[in-house]
Amino acid sequence: MTPYGASIAGTGSCVPERRLTNADLEKLVDTTDEWIVQRTGIRERRIAAPGESSSTLAIVAAQRALESAKVKAADIDMIIVATVTPDMPTPSNACLLQHALGCRRGIAAMDLNAACSGFVYALVTGSAFIKTGTARTVLVVGAETLSRITDYTDRSTCILFGDGAGAAILTRSADTGIGVQHFELGSDGSGAMLLHVPAGGSRAPATADTVGGKMHTLRMSGREVFKFAVAQMSESIQRAMNACNLTPDQIKLVIPHQSNARIIDSATAKIGLTSDRTFINIDKYGNTSAASVAIALDEAIRAGRCGRGDWIVIIGIGGGLTWATATVKL
Ligand code: ACO
Repeated sequence: MTPYGASIAGTGSCVPERRLTNADLEKLVDTTDEWIVQRTGIRERRIAAPGESSSTLAIVAAQRALESAKVKAADIDMIIVATVTPDMPTPSNACLLQHALGCRRGIAAMDLNAACSGFVYALVTGSAFIKTGTARTVLVVGAETLSRITDYTDRSTCILFGDGAGAAILTRSADTGIGVQHFELGSDGSGAMLLHVPAGGSRAPATADTVGGKMHTLRMSGREVFKFAVAQMSESIQRAMNACNLTPDQIKLVIPHQSNARIIDSATAKIGLTSDRTFINIDKYGNTSAASVAIALDEAIRAGRCGRGDWIVIIGIGGGLTWATATVKL
């Protein structure tokens, strides 16, 4: 028995101004707008300006979440930032946010790396601290500048990725029936190399050779990741519904990681979810990894696609390999 519920009290998001369209990519690599739209559903993505980074996007997203939750930065007692593109290896982006937002000195702040599953991992973790009574107000963020680790000469990856940030404020509720009601966090490290950045860590620190060999950019086995994602997404959503005794028509909205419209369509069709119960914004932003579910959640709530009292399922799947699903009563 948990003494409290963890309510999603407010959300926010922030994407850079600059748009990189499929037509722009046609000038960089051997591809076409038609191929990208048909194979992925993506039409454009946002790219950070030179002065922007994952933390600057995260700060604005967090401020918007605070505003919508009507919560002050001084009330936050824990920050979790999910990202694979922190501003620096250390300090954490969470510490940068603690200072920039004007939070109290001494609160808990940490980054979390679960690639595209990161925001759902962070939301479940933050909720657990509230449910057990050890935190009252938690800021959860997913923020990425994937353009900084993308090889714009590799057509199999550069068409996919974009930049952005999303945030949620979790607050303590006396109602245990609100917030995350069921979750599944998973990993399978045997697929670690299916999506990885070869250099820049302790295994291959930066040298002139690693930079020359473009080893600081994402490498991906697209077909394998695709197959894994379709199977994992449909099975996880089904298990999430079963665990809470929900039928597809009782789910107001499924908010999946925006990796590929075909992955989302085939996974949701398999379990009988109609398109009006699935949120897709990949056409505007591409795959923003840990930020993807966070931005989609914010846009879905602001657009009135889901709201207080509705059941939603959020799901992230990605590098690691990792997956994370949460069934949430808003
Ligand atoms: N434009 C034109 N042709 C292309 C492009 C492109 N941009 N990219 C690849 N092709 C070609 C290939 O070279 C190949 O040609 P060939 O048949 O002559 O060899 C052909 O298109 C088909 O290639 P596939 O890789 O089989 O294409 P597929 O339909 O699988 O689509 C894609 C590729 C979009 C990458 C898909 O596999 C995918 O979305 N995979 C999952 C990606 C994903 O979710 N990654 C993120 C995980 S989340 C995270 O943690 C960041």
